[in-house]
Amino acid sequence: MSSELDYSSIQLAEAEPDASSMIESFRAVGYSIETAIADIIDNSISANANNIWVDYSWKGPSTILSILDDGIGMNNEELIQAMRPGSKNPLDFRNEDDLGRFGLGLKTASFSQTRKFTVASKKEGESVCFWSWDLDFVNKSHSWNLIKYCPNENAYTEKIENLVSGTCVVWWDLDRIAKDTKEDSEDSKKKFLETMESVKSHISMVFHRFIEDGLNIFFQGRKINSWDPFMIGFKGLQAKPGVKLQDGKAIIKGFILPHRSKLSPEEYNYGKGPEDSWTAHQGFYVYRSKRLIVAGDWLGLFKKEVHYDLCRIQIDLSNDIDNDWQIDIKKSVARPPLKYKDQIVSVAKEARAQAIEVYKNKGMILRRKLSNDEYFPFWEEKVRHGKRFYVINRKHPLLTDLFSKSNGLNSDIKRVLQFIEETIPVPLITYQENENIKPYGQPFEGKSDAVRDTMKEMYQNLIKNGKTDERAKSIILNIEPFHFYPQYLEHLGDE
Ligand SMILES: Nc1ncnc2c1ncn2[C@@H]1O[C@H](COP(=O)(O)OP(=O)(O)O)[C@@H](O)[C@H]1O
Ligand SMILES: [Mg+2]
Repeated sequence: MSSELDYSSIQLAEAEPDASSMIESFRAVGYSIETAIADIIDNSISANANNIWVDYSWKGPSTILSILDDGIGMNNEELIQAMRPGSKNPLDFRNEDDLGRFGLGLKTASFSQTRKFTVASKKEGESVCFWSWDLDFVNKSHSWNLIKYCPNENAYTEKIENLVSGTCVVWWDLDRIAKDTKEDSEDSKKKFLETMESVKSHISMVFHRFIEDGLNIFFQGRKINSWDPFMIGFKGLQAKPGVKLQDGKAIIKGFILPHRSKLSPEEYNYGKGPEDSWTAHQGFYVYRSKRLIVAGDWLGLFKKEVHYDLCRIQIDLSNDIDNDWQIDIKKSVARPPLKYKDQIVSVAKEARAQAIEVYKNKGMILRRKLSNDEYFPFWEEKVRHGKRFYVINRKHPLLTDLFSKSNGLNSDIKRVLQFIEETIPVPLITYQENENIKPYGQPFEGKSDAVRDTMKEMYQNLIKNGKTDERAKSIILNIEPFHFYPQYLEHLGDE
């Protein structure tokens, strides 16, 4: 529509959002406690905090969790404004180091975990102010009113009083994780503490670049160490040059992490990260203004497969292109713009290929070491009466194995093999190859699981028959087509 409507002549009806239903929908945004706490920490970082303290004490349903920072703080008016849902327009300009976006995080993250929370704050030279949202009161009064109440108020205002300036977010009705628990139940307490451990490792990952730059985040008084997915500084790391997209507002950089043989057991475990798994941590790492949003995900472009374990790709975004990347409210999802998909795929393919290469090289070294071993091709060329024929190698381990298992069927199997050999359309294959009508598919293209599973089975049999790990692997590497897949060797011994 091009012309502006004349609203003065149009009938109106009031349709204010219903307070309680709006808030209940905020609660359903889909935060986990890890992502919710990270969103509160974002605000502290944007407020220039140098120190952030995450504290909690287990008290069953009355458990309280607080996030305190020594950032610039807010005065009473600013605090009330900050407590308003949608306090900033997502389209407004943001400083390049501002981690906020929709003007919702403080509220949605808090409501996702609590029915009641307080924010207390102080600007330099001013006194402490505080306000709380209480969902039960909003439901009852059907109005968007903050209340000036916080249990154990002094404990939290005092924490800020001792700082030049700062803010404390207090979650005091943690109904998502503490409801229906009992303070003296060991089981509930254990679960809660496990959840807190997971929060801690999430923080160490999401904010690792800030921690490396000197930000202190304390968890129950103890400083959190950063977890760097790229293992910068570890021996054997390969970094590809960064590639600029979107006028340099996005930079993508592939890393090939060190092979296990280059790492100490501790270093190898470090690489497993918060998910405790190399495979879970392969993929893209998308950062928005250095804050990690996506941690190890192929963004729907590829699948996670063990032989890409060493491949991690950094994507750095500035905070003014998040609309293009569809950053969501929780700041946990990003989708590459269609326009740059091809470029991203090509950078990723290169890094992925290089990551497989590490395993392949390991396999090749092993093969060279044992190069005198007998090699088992699957097909062989034979000459009869001066003519070429192609036959299946009866000594190939897959066949000797089959013959040994197939009591009484051996002559049938041999007959089928003979029919395959005699009817294989050699002229047709040759003709197609010369005319190059369509590119031919690579062996096991898109069906590599069959190769991997067969290799694994064969490996297990060899081990069962007393072969050493190295011996078993070298035998397998001398069997067609397994010698094309040295990348699978690495994980043959895994459960
Ligand atoms: N810890 C804090 N210190 C100072 N100001 C804060 C803090 N947390 C929130 N604010 C203020 O409240 C506003 C709203 O925060 P939030 O709801 O998370 O939205 P956003 O971060 O997208 O702006 C922020 O823009 C900031 O001005
Ligand atoms: Mg925010």
